[in-house]
Amino acid sequence: MMRTMNRRITGRSLSVLHSAALLCFCHATAAVEYRLASPSGDITLEFGLTESGQPSYSAKYDGQAAIDRSLLGFDFRRAADLVDGMVVEQVDRSSADTTWEQPWGEQRLIRDHYNEMRLTLSESAAPARRMELVFRAYDDGIAFRYRLPEQENLDRVEILDELSEFNLSGDYSAWWTPALAGEKYEYLTRNTPLEQVELVHTPLTLTRERGPALAIHEAVLKDYATMNLRGEGHSLKAALVPIHKGSPVKVEARTPFSTPWRTVQMADSETGLITSYLTLNLNEPNKLGDVSWVHPGKYVGIWWELHLEKGTWHSGPKHGATTENTKKYIDFAAQNGFDGVLVEGWNRGWDGEWWNHGGGAFRFTEAYPDYDVDALSRYASDRGVYLIGHHETGAETDNYERQLEEAYDFLQQHGMKAVKTGYVETGELLTNNNYHHGQRFVQHAGKVTRTAAEHKVMVVAHETVKDTGERRTYPNLVSREVARGQEYNAWAEDGGNPPNHTTIIPFTRMLAGPMDFTPGIFDLTLPSRPDNQVNTTLAKQLALYVVIYSPVQMAADLPENYRKYPDAFQFIKDVAVDWETTRVLSGDIGQHVAIARQVRGGEDWFVGAITNEKARDVALDLDFLDTGRSYTATIYRDGEKADYRANPESYVIESRRVNAGDKIRTRLAPGGGMAIRLAAESK
Ligand code: NOJ
Repeated sequence: MMRTMNRRITGRSLSVLHSAALLCFCHATAAVEYRLASPSGDITLEFGLTESGQPSYSAKYDGQAAIDRSLLGFDFRRAADLVDGMVVEQVDRSSADTTWEQPWGEQRLIRDHYNEMRLTLSESAAPARRMELVFRAYDDGIAFRYRLPEQENLDRVEILDELSEFNLSGDYSAWWTPALAGEKYEYLTRNTPLEQVELVHTPLTLTRERGPALAIHEAVLKDYATMNLRGEGHSLKAALVPIHKGSPVKVEARTPFSTPWRTVQMADSETGLITSYLTLNLNEPNKLGDVSWVHPGKYVGIWWELHLEKGTWHSGPKHGATTENTKKYIDFAAQNGFDGVLVEGWNRGWDGEWWNHGGGAFRFTEAYPDYDVDALSRYASDRGVYLIGHHETGAETDNYERQLEEAYDFLQQHGMKAVKTGYVETGELLTNNNYHHGQRFVQHAGKVTRTAAEHKVMVVAHETVKDTGERRTYPNLVSREVARGQEYNAWAEDGGNPPNHTTIIPFTRMLAGPMDFTPGIFDLTLPSRPDNQVNTTLAKQLALYVVIYSPVQMAADLPENYRKYPDAFQFIKDVAVDWETTRVLSGDIGQHVAIARQVRGGEDWFVGAITNEKARDVALDLDFLDTGRSYTATIYRDGEKADYRANPESYVIESRRVNAGDKIRTRLAPGGGMAIRLAAESK
């Protein structure tokens, strides 16, 4: 093996290996190891071949084992597996330290600082196929991906299994949702010891008493199947979503191709994971050029009233998307400074079992007769507002793709700068028998984003595949749902999202990217839904605008409910949606979290603090403020007797002058929260 390596290694790589003494013979099962350290040296990674010549890696955080030796490789159909008998042909090392600017985001400037090691491997015996493994070590985690170069003996590949493992040592507590279990990503998070993890989604967050918090996820999921993880004791194994029902194949590809990056974010505790931008860093820079047409913003819409069953998506006497009703929302948006008005149920296709593979009925250019789309587009535009299109597909991706070009042309022609897409179905299969998050769906989602970009339309995607940082490359893909959102509070048979849901997802789902959670419900007891209520206080609904990041935020409740509480509504009108920077002030997954964000290009800050079902005293340290300034803090907190069960709508608004170094102390009610606006006074 050494002979092969020395023969093929680049001069630069060889000198790096020798001078930095990065070559060692130090593990029982790995004959040769190559070491990679993050820029600070706190995170280290070792690559090695096992005695049978199978690639493997391990990683340490602050000198402590984080990932034990874990195997890598592929099982193919109609070709020998690419597993063992490999030798290292070449090692190339590189580093980068750049800072890039997000066009919009939770953090304007992001430092991309890493060391990389690219290994070219080949089978020592015929057919001598080649595979590259690229590892990166950042100060907030590690990442690796496979690349299969173009070669004579490996052209078309059908991947049965990607054999990537994540073997963990230590007693981890795992925070997970089940994969391929019928409800896409829409579950409450389960918290179990690692050994009880089944087939689960990523990001998978792992916490422990002592030692780093980890989150396993992926980046740049394109032209490939989604990676779920299967737990086996202390090991997690990549489990790719099948391509079609009944097929053992997960991915069909032609060389050359790269897999998505497999990522393990690491931090001292779970709060540190929230401000890790590793997934974004691994994605390619913006491919759309000038994206000045992509605007963060706030919206209202004909939506919550449908979930409350006050109106219907389908046609008939209770049809929600009428011209008259839409005008009311447009007027409300214009009067209160909102950017957009979402209208669901505007188009033909809702009459029938649309959620149950309804037969290609959705039309994306044909409005119901009681919805005058031309007049409404003009009415909105005259008032400085735009309509947000809605493309519910009923998970009929073929029907949608057939209409894609005309559908986006229609949006553009009508001045609709954004669209909400949806893929509702019962189960995990699309009408064409492809899996909801399999390779074909991933390709479909990419096509929708690109088509939208060609028409200068922003996409907010529901029931789509999880976020792996594509917004960096396609900044028009502004937000997604991909978790249980607000709507579950209206109709879920389990009574809706319990208060701890929003104290968990900032540490799990939100690590992937923005979420269209749609906060802002003020009428929390839901008279039209007697079996349900929103399990938060009103003040917590306000705090969610800061805690749950999205560049497009809905004020989800009905205008009449906002009119009842104009002083609390002021926070929704004021809160920013685009940020200079984000700080996590405190947090404990499942218990509470407090996040501060500074307005992009401004001096003001907003803070959101939330708790689970337990009341708790918080003391927020304002040391993130500029020391040379005073700020007017407007504090929206729970009333003394507020409680999400019995008294959710009780809140207090206070105003006072604060400086860096002050603390804001308050008591969060059971299921409660606090939202703060910190307006900088002039110096
Ligand atoms: C599910 C989406 O999450 C929800 O927001 C939407 O109203 C319905 N589908 C109908 O498309």
